[in-house]
Amino acid sequence: MSAGAEPYRDALAAAVRHATRWLESQPSRRVGPQQAARELVAAFDGALPQSGMAPADVVDYLASHAEPGLMAMPSGRFFGWVIGGTLPAAMAADWLVSSWDQNSGLRYATPAIAAIEDAAGHWLLQLLGMPEESDVGFVTGTTMANFTGLAAARWRLLKDAGWDLERDGLFGAPRIHCLVGEERHETVDLALRYLGMGSPTVVPADSQGRIDAAELDCALDRIALEHAAADSSGAQSGGSQGSGPAPVLVCLQAGNLHSGGFDPFTAAIAVSKAHGAWVHVDGAFGLWAAAVPELAGLTAGVERADSWATDAHKSLNVPYDCGVVVVRDAQALRSAMGLHASYLLQDADGSGDPSQRVPELSRRARGVPVWAALKSLGRDGVAGQIRRLATSAAQLGELLTAIDGVEVLNDVGYTQISVAFGDDATTRRVAERLIADGKVWMSGSRWHGRDVVRISVSNWTTDADDVTTAVEAVRTAVEAVRSGGT
Ligand SMILES: Cc1ncc(COP(=O)(O)O)c(C=O)c1O
Repeated sequence: MSAGAEPYRDALAAAVRHATRWLESQPSRRVGPQQAARELVAAFDGALPQSGMAPADVVDYLASHAEPGLMAMPSGRFFGWVIGGTLPAAMAADWLVSSWDQNSGLRYATPAIAAIEDAAGHWLLQLLGMPEESDVGFVTGTTMANFTGLAAARWRLLKDAGWDLERDGLFGAPRIHCLVGEERHETVDLALRYLGMGSPTVVPADSQGRIDAAELDCALDRIALEHAAADSSGAQSGGSQGSGPAPVLVCLQAGNLHSGGFDPFTAAIAVSKAHGAWVHVDGAFGLWAAAVPELAGLTAGVERADSWATDAHKSLNVPYDCGVVVVRDAQALRSAMGLHASYLLQDADGSGDPSQRVPELSRRARGVPVWAALKSLGRDGVAGQIRRLATSAAQLGELLTAIDGVEVLNDVGYTQISVAFGDDATTRRVAERLIADGKVWMSGSRWHGRDVVRISVSNWTTDADDVTTAVEAVRTAVEAVRSGGT
């Protein structure tokens, strides 16, 4: 006998009540948490209770004890890291995903999820101007989207070099030369590490952190020359390694964390392709610029890459977690990720199982909130949302520049701003003061050898009032630090 709705009713009602209260508090609450994890742990830890608690009471307990330790990430005044809020349709769809409880790995087992995620994938390809033949997978975030795209790259590059990765593994395989821009996100290195590809060759970047395409070209030339030299010395000594062109992987970036800068895709992809490289693009938040006609110049040429990673939990504003991997070469992706266990009957309709496009077999239906977000916004709504993020960032940048003692260090052309307040010690004091004040949240970082406060406008609710609040909060913090306050 299945449980029916009754055992769930009170707990779900409690969850709706707490969620509504939490959302109602966002316009006015302090952004930062009031308590640290070490202060909160006593409420949740201790000996595992011998007997249980009614589900609704568990929800009440959880919500009331967690509340002081929650960051108001859904607030329009939250500008930390690169973190989006949640659109109403996406949040509600996410709740449905939990109640449907579909293990979404297999098309024939959960056809509704497969159909919805296929549709979300097609819409994303259209919206972001990606090749329509590409495969799309829904993963936890851009870290895993980078991993998945690079796993497909590894499979294809080794296959083309005559190496059977499935059978022979990585030991003794031809070396894949990986090149990255100086200011790529660390998760690219992490993905390369997961994949056993070692540390990449780093190519210099310009003042906005954009890879230098001419330097990339030189680095690619050097690799080709070294490979050819190894090839001929290998042939002379009777070895077989190194024959054919060098397997090369180039990782580009759409959206630099500090500047919002975009790599010059047309030039960088042209030189990479001239060397036969696979090009992967980390576009965690930047790929979304392609959805806005006035911003699309930032991503011009990006569609010529081979794989792309982005987040739906950033600029699109679906709830955590949801990243998206797009790979043009479906065979490479499915070979790298697919599994063929005999108990998992494959669907025969040709579209492939969702599990063939992502690392996991069992998986939450992450694509459903993406579909709901896109359905609720439409093409114009997505463009409007991304445009508003960039416009708010531009306004913030301008207003902050006008404050005495504030230096905006980057060209604000997208959603990111890096600000310094004089020397490092002063910048750190202003940052601490801002956090203590609680009206906004901005996160500290280091960029180009200086301490900075990083502002990311990523929340769909950030409006002109929030921009004004942020500017006033910075002004107050700077004045307080200058007048000797802490
Ligand atoms: C450019 C870039 N790449 C990758 C990531 C990692 O994304 P996630 O935290 O979703 O795994 C981020 C996160 O901010 C990012 O900005």
